[in-house]
Amino acid sequence: MKRMNRKKIREILNQNKEEAEILVMGWVRTRRDSKGGFSFLEINDGSCLKNLQVIVDHNIDSFELNSGKLHTGSCARVIGKLVQSPGKGQSVELQAKIVEVYGEADPDHYPLQKKHHSFEFLREIAHLRPRTNTFGAVMRVRNRLSYSIHNFFQERGFLYLHTPIITTNDCEGAGEMFQVTTLNSDTLRAKDGEVDYSQDFFGEKTGLTVSGQLEGEVYAMALSEIYTFGPTFRAENSNTSRHLSEFWMVEPEMAFYDLEDDMNLAENFLRYLFKDILEQCPEDLEFFNKQFDKTILERHQGVVDYKFERISYSDAIKLLQKSNKNFTYPVKWGSNLQSEHERYISEDVFKKPVIIYDYPDKIKPFYMKCNNDGKTVRAMDVILPKLGEIIGGSQREDDYNVLIKRMEAKNLNPDDYHWYLDLRRFGSAPHAGFGLGFERLVQFVTGMENIRDVIPFPRTPKNARF
Ligand code: 4AD
Ligand code: MG
Repeated sequence: MKRMNRKKIREILNQNKEEAEILVMGWVRTRRDSKGGFSFLEINDGSCLKNLQVIVDHNIDSFELNSGKLHTGSCARVIGKLVQSPGKGQSVELQAKIVEVYGEADPDHYPLQKKHHSFEFLREIAHLRPRTNTFGAVMRVRNRLSYSIHNFFQERGFLYLHTPIITTNDCEGAGEMFQVTTLNSDTLRAKDGEVDYSQDFFGEKTGLTVSGQLEGEVYAMALSEIYTFGPTFRAENSNTSRHLSEFWMVEPEMAFYDLEDDMNLAENFLRYLFKDILEQCPEDLEFFNKQFDKTILERHQGVVDYKFERISYSDAIKLLQKSNKNFTYPVKWGSNLQSEHERYISEDVFKKPVIIYDYPDKIKPFYMKCNNDGKTVRAMDVILPKLGEIIGGSQREDDYNVLIKRMEAKNLNPDDYHWYLDLRRFGSAPHAGFGLGFERLVQFVTGMENIRDVIPFPRTPKNARF
């Protein structure tokens, strides 16, 4: 076959004009044979949702040898003439001159035949699910959102910072760190329960990071505005549709910001991302809107158009108590808001994104700045309808002595955080930041029910295959 440049299907369908000869490569989604001696192939190369229709005349050279073997799932290279299509649903189609098979897919064994497959089944074949319409669309949206996140921060002069994956600190203090060790199981099963970590690879107990925030603060206190965007890990045994053991988090950290600046940034950030994705991925979003949830487009436009509601934790508790709803978890000042509470507030009461701020200090980590009331901290969570918490952030405690007290109250040893405390000893400044769960964002944007279906290879309790 002669050497030519391949054209992507997205480009071909967008250009929408005839061409004497082009080269296309992709995977056969469906094949239909007509009695008149033609085969109709739908080919997809992942560049867009739509397939390119290829018409193969059975009289072309070596049809039997090549195109005859093209079943669903096989991969082909086609040179042909691009012509206006008389058929409905496509602008142009390719009349094949030469068809070459790269790899066949035996119809008796290829699992993705043209019928409905459940998401549970597709998780079992995570190596083949990218070849479905849904996963192609999810990954294109995921890609665009990542790009757009970088654009947002880069346009504002934030520096992209790479924080470590292996760390000694449990930022959130929730005891959900995966341990990293080269000690063997005998050494780890020490006699009196005390493992000697000075013998371990790093000479002390280490784990996978739950958040890049503490290291992010170090750089914000020198470079003013930074953001991290990387993998984070939580050994949290929650088998829900919104939790992963490995997920990606976006964490901006800004010197000279107070809690209100932090909330403003979070709101502008989400608005920017939704506006961009509506503009850049209309075809994929329409697919989700049609296929899974008819309110997606309207909801996204709402994020762009309307100001978020802002309400204090104490007022949120009052609202919940007044609601007369039968919640599974009781509503009491001082306890965590559960996702049923968050969803009631954003879905039923305000019907839009809500920022809840000033949470009780007892339920929030050590690093959040104390309010003068002696019982709340300058924390904020952004809550989305249908999803719940998507962003968690706060103004940070910048007073050395108050921070030491908070650490002691949380049973943390200040010596372990000497470098973090130094930021308050030398040139301290008000600063704030937040963390956005990237998969939760992709989940909300696509309307996918389960967070396992918006990441290429999900890690959850009892599952790290592929
Ligand atoms: O609220 P979190 O725990 O906040 C932090 O880690 C802060 N250090 C962030 C900061 O201020 N720099 O996590 C932030 C977000 C949550 O709002 C949620 O969207 C997501 O991370 N998240 C998860 N996403 C998927 N699976 C999990 N297990 C998640 N845990 C948190
Ligand atoms: Mg949180």
